[in-house]
Amino acid sequence: MDKKARGQQPIGIFDSGVGGLSVMRAIRQELPHEDILYLGDQAHIPYGPRSKAQIKAFSFGITQFLLTQGAKLIVVACNTASGAALYALRDAFPDVLFVGMEPAVKPAAETTRTGKVGVLATPTTFAGDLYASVVERFARDVSIYKSNCPGLVELIEAGALDSPEVHRILEEALSPMMDAEIDTVVLGCTHYPFVIPVIEAITGPSVRTIDPAPAIARQTIRLLSKGHMLNQQDSQGNLQLFSSSDPQKLIQFSPPSHDEETSVNRLTWNGETLCLVDGA
Ligand code: DGL
Repeated sequence: MDKKARGQQPIGIFDSGVGGLSVMRAIRQELPHEDILYLGDQAHIPYGPRSKAQIKAFSFGITQFLLTQGAKLIVVACNTASGAALYALRDAFPDVLFVGMEPAVKPAAETTRTGKVGVLATPTTFAGDLYASVVERFARDVSIYKSNCPGLVELIEAGALDSPEVHRILEEALSPMMDAEIDTVVLGCTHYPFVIPVIEAITGPSVRTIDPAPAIARQTIRLLSKGHMLNQQDSQGNLQLFSSSDPQKLIQFSPPSHDEETSVNRLTWNGETLCLVDGA
């Protein structure tokens, strides 16, 4: 296939649920002419407490599905899946361009003034090689305070963004970090940008919150430009949403604008393979 035709293919983005929509938002803002396939594996959410082997199997099935749908590049818009599967995906699909997430410890370490940084992420992300390697490479001289915010992903997924429960979980996570005088909080889970107002209400203006989504959008542009695979169409790109559970949840978090063409599709897992549910 020539490069122009390849450029017309969509970008595939996936997460366990709505979290990756925070990354998709940034990508759409930077690349409005790109067609996008967004897949939320809501049948399996949360990924956070699951085993690496399980998350890897899901990520392989999802990648296979997105490639079948014509994805020219895949954004693993989930820190947990990136930690568990990104290296293996790159090995197994050497011809595919992948953009993965890693907790933004590097920019935090570079800009902290107190030398103390908070990181919020899931247990699997903290246990993974990717996180260990980022800390080892960039944050040796920085004190890191971690919290895996148990239950937060599920509440965000349910849309309870400003609920007392969300306030309680974040208070519990952030208070000890504030006592330790952190000046930066890294959002190491793509669900968390949806509760930035609550986080910032707790931390106040002296603490900087780092959402890696804009950096992921810039990396996507870099890879597509380098491969001459940017979509050259003049019109607004369309959006296809896929969910292995309830695609309406994705719509609630990503309501289409008036000039946007959006389709919603339900998927089902058949063993380790994702299949479209007819008529959904
Ligand atoms: N949004 C995902 C992440 O970035 C994880 C949510 C989950 O536990 O499923 O880590």
